[in-house]
Amino acid sequence: MSKREFTDTNIDAGFDSDKIIELKNKNEQFFILNGRRKSYHILTYGCQMNEHDSEKISGMLTSIGYEETDDEKDAELVIFNTCLIRENAELKFFGKLGEVKGLKRNKPDMMVAVCGCMMQKDEIREKLLKKFSFVDIVFGTNTIHELPGLIYNVEFKNRKSIDIVENTELIYENMPKQRKFKYKALVNITYGCNNFCTYCVVPYVRGREKSREPEEIINEVKSLAQDGCREVTLLGQNVNSYGSNLEIGFTFAQLLREIDKIEGLERIRFMTSHPKDLTDDLISAIKDCSKVCNHIHLPVQAGSNEVLRKMNRKYTREHYLDLIEKLKKEIPDIAITTDIIVGFPGETEEDFLETVDVVRKVQYDSAFTFLYSMREGTKAALMVDQIPDEVKHERFDRLLEVLYPIVLERNSQCIGKTYPVLVESTSKTSENFLTGRTEHFRLVHFKGSEDLIGSTVNVKITNVKTFHMEGEIIN
Ligand code: SAH
Ligand code: SF4
Ligand code: F3S
Repeated sequence: MSKREFTDTNIDAGFDSDKIIELKNKNEQFFILNGRRKSYHILTYGCQMNEHDSEKISGMLTSIGYEETDDEKDAELVIFNTCLIRENAELKFFGKLGEVKGLKRNKPDMMVAVCGCMMQKDEIREKLLKKFSFVDIVFGTNTIHELPGLIYNVEFKNRKSIDIVENTELIYENMPKQRKFKYKALVNITYGCNNFCTYCVVPYVRGREKSREPEEIINEVKSLAQDGCREVTLLGQNVNSYGSNLEIGFTFAQLLREIDKIEGLERIRFMTSHPKDLTDDLISAIKDCSKVCNHIHLPVQAGSNEVLRKMNRKYTREHYLDLIEKLKKEIPDIAITTDIIVGFPGETEEDFLETVDVVRKVQYDSAFTFLYSMREGTKAALMVDQIPDEVKHERFDRLLEVLYPIVLERNSQCIGKTYPVLVESTSKTSENFLTGRTEHFRLVHFKGSEDLIGSTVNVKITNVKTFHMEGEIIN
């Protein structure tokens, strides 16, 4: 095989184009000759945005005749959908890419594609192309739809292909999607972010915020519900600002009210809510809409006003705590979860204790806690007073010492009570056990048979841990 060279290309991979037909025919021939389809293996890093992008990638690959394999060793195509939110996400990816390099040595025809947020950063992409020259295809978060065209280039022109678009107003609707779960689905409502929190790379790699048209979202959810989907999670970096760029003027609260009417659907979740844009109207919508789960993920990030200011979060601890009070007053059984960053530049011991104080005051049902990670290109990376690693770790440990007992206590309050649980899958750890979630997003393990997957069962909670609960089905 001759060496493939990278060329900068922009291919419009319309699904009916001749190229796609050629590609499909070639894959069909492979199937006839080998008695199996060409297979791909996809590794997804990062958040639900990436998870859902991977479902679109899988949908496209299926439509051109590939099938998925769990084992990268069997795959004709390995795809890395990358994340760079924190340094460890990057390190994990490069470690795995090194392993695949070894695989490709013995299987030179294996195609390797890298996409996702990391590829939107010029320096990282250039480093990748230089150091990992075995990579055949590179594309970004705005060019997922081009993948079939990029594969075509490799297959038919023996040419490596890159397709990156920095920022775009365009939204590609109607991409095929191969969803991981039948009964719960991720649905994009906005793409990108305008908030520029000073620690965060997302606005640089996902571009400016744009909202999908309400009817596109509503139609997608309707067709999901018709296909048997019970729960949707509406996705956006800040769902609360949904609609701000739409000419027709449509808010997130309105969207929730519309989706709530869709027959067959049982649950509506959404991620993520920015405290600065959480309106009274939205709180009313959560309260009024019977399908909207009584759970809100409301990242606080830090409890000190000085740190919040430096983070460019645009709210104060007082405003945040007022919101929590309002939420608890309006919706007494609401579950509140959050994201917290420890060790942001300049964070003093007093600042940190204010974060701990917020955790105590709110009594979170659960929280994702992160050590601040310096990200090149962000404003916070230029701040001079970076916190030493050992201080960050020590504060992080102290935060968990406060947080975990609170979470356990919140879970303990469920013991003896019965909750509807949407059964998601069999348990990975124990045989004959199922797992699912309550509307409050609590994970529950319980005994039951596989044919209950996709249905909602009543589960009485018998025992709780910090990260899950145990129970039994009540008929
Ligand atoms: N748009 C969402 C989530 C973005 S990323 C929001 O605003 O809440 C998910 C979480 O990663 C963030 O909430 C933040 O807590 C964390 N995060 C982002 N950048 C980080 C960084 N540089 N270091 C540590 N944690 C970070
Ligand atoms: Fe990042 Fe802030 Fe946007 Fe969330 S709101 S994606 S933390 S910039
Ligand atoms: Fe990571 Fe991109 Fe999500 S950087 S957290 S995958 S938006």
